[in-house]
Amino acid sequence: MRLTEMQLQQFATEGWLFLPELFTPEEVAVLGAEAEAIFRTPREEIWREKSGAPRTAFAAHTYNEAFRLLGAHPRLIEPVEQVFADRLYMHQFKINAKAAFDGDVWQWHQDYGTWARDDGMPEARAMNIAVFVDEVMPINGPLMLVPRSHRHGVLDAGHDLATTSYPLWTLDQDTVGRLVDAGGIVAPVGKPGGVLLFHGNLVHGSAGNITPYPRKIVYLTLNAVGNAIRTPTRPEWIAHRDFTPIEPVADDALAAYAQRFARAAE
Ligand code: SIN
Ligand code: MN
Repeated sequence: MRLTEMQLQQFATEGWLFLPELFTPEEVAVLGAEAEAIFRTPREEIWREKSGAPRTAFAAHTYNEAFRLLGAHPRLIEPVEQVFADRLYMHQFKINAKAAFDGDVWQWHQDYGTWARDDGMPEARAMNIAVFVDEVMPINGPLMLVPRSHRHGVLDAGHDLATTSYPLWTLDQDTVGRLVDAGGIVAPVGKPGGVLLFHGNLVHGSAGNITPYPRKIVYLTLNAVGNAIRTPTRPEWIAHRDFTPIEPVADDALAAYAQRFARAAE
């Protein structure tokens, strides 16, 4: 799958691009069922909110077949290879739960700020792509983006170890206020199967979820092979050390897996 010139232009100018319904309801349903099962397991790679609700499951592509197929899916790999003109490896892979009633906030931050400071990533040549597993609505804690904020490079940040259960390099209110005055805020919403690409330096965050609607999103962090991390400080299952280029699977591999999964459940 290739992005058009207009899509590449929007990504370069605004720092984000939304591709609605890139995956079918069948493909996403199997991801949702597998995610729920993963959240019920006691693995160390699953972090919980202070309430005990699941927050993030790391590295599911290394032990779950449906997420392995998603992590090598050509509809995700090819557009990002196109943007970076390089092969890609998986720097990080996470399923964020934003659980019904209990999903906690993600403070304003830039992803590359963390990858640079904590993992020693040389340049902002990695990208987070968000795959909507549930419907993302204006009310259930959608990801909020500050358009064009990626043009400011890495901004000063403080290491927030207290607000949520997840340590994050967060931006202060003055900085966010200035960037929002210039670029506003967008919160792409849509059905399960939508995909959001955003630049590693784009400022973003999300509010808590007090609705009965969970908001599961899978994030692939794809890094250009030539930009592999140099000085990781976090565990291997948060910042991967396998820099082997991803070989995309067949475009129908996840759909075929979903069919086998549905038949097994009959
Ligand atoms: C993130 O920024 O890494 C996650 C934010 C979210 O899932 O709302
Ligand atoms: Mn982030």
